[in-house]
Amino acid sequence: MESVSIFCMILCTLICIQQIRRTTSIGVCYGTEGTNLPSPTEVVAQYKKCNYQKMRIFKPDAQIQEALRGQGINVAIGTLDDDLPTLANNPAAATTWVSTNIVPYMNNTLYEYLVVGNEVVPGSLGKYVAPAMLNLYKAIKPIGALSQLKITTTVPMSALGISFPPSASNFADAAMSDMTAIIQALNNMQNGDSILMVNAYPYFAYASDTSHISKEYANTKSSAPGVVDGNLEYHSLIHAMLDAFYAALEKNGGSSLGVVVGETGWPSGGNGEITTPYLSAMYNSFCRYYILGSGTPMRPNKKLDGFVFEMFNENEKPGGVEQNFGLYQANMTPVYAFC
Ligand SMILES: *[C@@H]1O[C@H](CO)[C@@H](O)[C@H](O)[C@H]1NC(C)=O
Repeated sequence: MESVSIFCMILCTLICIQQIRRTTSIGVCYGTEGTNLPSPTEVVAQYKKCNYQKMRIFKPDAQIQEALRGQGINVAIGTLDDDLPTLANNPAAATTWVSTNIVPYMNNTLYEYLVVGNEVVPGSLGKYVAPAMLNLYKAIKPIGALSQLKITTTVPMSALGISFPPSASNFADAAMSDMTAIIQALNNMQNGDSILMVNAYPYFAYASDTSHISKEYANTKSSAPGVVDGNLEYHSLIHAMLDAFYAALEKNGGSSLGVVVGETGWPSGGNGEITTPYLSAMYNSFCRYYILGSGTPMRPNKKLDGFVFEMFNENEKPGGVEQNFGLYQANMTPVYAFC
């Protein structure tokens, strides 16, 4: 199907779901695990053209960070997971990391999130996240960037044990001690303005149980609630997932913390009829125009910020759906209209 006609169908469907509200901002993850991707300068130009106001990069990259200078795109930057033990154990390494990867660029680029570890909780690197965050915090504090830069980490749904119904959710046993330390660190930084980033993929929940989860509930919004939780009704699985994190935070001393969507997306191929450009376009457009910029049933006044995963189909990712989350092919051909 032509991308223009897909876009019209999506707009019509979204108008039926709810009157479209343009969000103040959308982020797009920019991974670089491809052999044939465009230059960072071309990528940044595409972000500007399509009004993607935030970019998440998964590791420091001087070329990308140079290309971002003065472009008005807010940046989320990650540390390499392998660097976590050093950043946790060696304050001088944290200072060097900040002076190499943030300070040279911050005079004309807004660094909004520093993501200390990507999906390492639960796991053996999880215990390094809180001390690494605190060392990076101490390194950043003297340069006065903390009013704009939030230090956080990104956790996957598997950090939760129970996630259903959302109010009953809590962290998994394997994640509990690391999450408790992370919450304490987040509480101790930035005066209560801290956030936890979560990677939430309704697609994977749906793909694992297509007979019990409705496609509409996972993909956009169902007319019948997917779950009724006390006096709250959930019509979109992404909301239930995010509220499960709010509930788990609340139970473990993190009730003042916000939640930001570190990654979400829907593959356009790799798994038959549940991964099509149409469903991917529906999901990402729904996130862009409805989910991001508004609250969740449990936290209606906390406007969600976040990042769609991801800019490109990357041919060095594992085969199957992992290579098919991109908004663009490697040659910048749109998979569907999202501009
Ligand atoms: C920021 O730093 C870069 C590199 O040192 C320099 O070229 C640029 O002029 C600076 N911009 C501002 C607004 O100070």
